[in-house]
Amino acid sequence: MTGLLPEDIAVVVLGPTGGVLGRRLRTALPGSRLHGPRTYPDDWDESYERAAAHIGRLFEAGHTIVGVCAAGILIRSVAPFLAKKREEPAVVAVAEDGAVVGTAELHPNLGGPGAHIANAGFMVDPAHAGRGVGRALAEHTIGLARADGYRAMQFNAVASTNTVAVALWQSLGFEILATVPEGFHHPDKGYVGLHIMYRRL
Ligand SMILES: CC(C)(COP(=O)(O)OP(=O)(O)OC[C@H]1O[C@@H](n2cnc3c(N)ncnc32)[C@H](O)[C@@H]1OP(=O)(O)O)[C@@H](O)C(=O)NCCC(=O)NCCS
Repeated sequence: MTGLLPEDIAVVVLGPTGGVLGRRLRTALPGSRLHGPRTYPDDWDESYERAAAHIGRLFEAGHTIVGVCAAGILIRSVAPFLAKKREEPAVVAVAEDGAVVGTAELHPNLGGPGAHIANAGFMVDPAHAGRGVGRALAEHTIGLARADGYRAMQFNAVASTNTVAVALWQSLGFEILATVPEGFHHPDKGYVGLHIMYRRL
């Protein structure tokens, strides 16, 4: 390790437009190597034929991976190799323009005797919505919560008008336990229901 950074970072670029950020990341991350597709010859340290198989091999070999691509591609590529969360390398997805496209956080829903149920929060930049970032973040967070020993996950306040979120959580196994009548004061729609959503892990 160099300070807090591992020395075996693989910066993986998927297309020709990711090269600019890829090279900046290689410069910023000492000892890192730039991996790019053989079909777009560039200043790659290593080139690959098939992205998913290559990313999977890198992960299996213990490389920290910074992918200049959608989070979903990385998650699907490393999923077959996930085994020991606390020992496996970090995997980070960055957008081609270097922007943060979404965030997720995980915490106990309550303290003390309620701390075995997780709660989580998600936010995706509207400019990157509808591209699978929210689903990938949620699937990853559910996996983390399970690995951390939580028994269930609960969302205490999902506005019923947030139909994209409600449908996404339902597709991931959450059910609506109850709806607080007029529990949310929507700026345009007035007083609307507020769902409590829950799933076992
Ligand atoms: C909820 C949220 C995290 C979803 O993130 P996202 O990256 O857009 O979600 P995904 O791209 O993974 O899409 C999930 C599903 O919603 C659908 N979807 C996403 N945006 C949509 C839209 N504007 N209209 C219709 N459907 C939409 C997608 O088609 C996808 O469905 P599918 O997987 O069945 O094809 C995001 O909308 C958000 O940040 N909202 C504001 C904050 C928020 O509401 N957080 C949750 C509070 S409970």
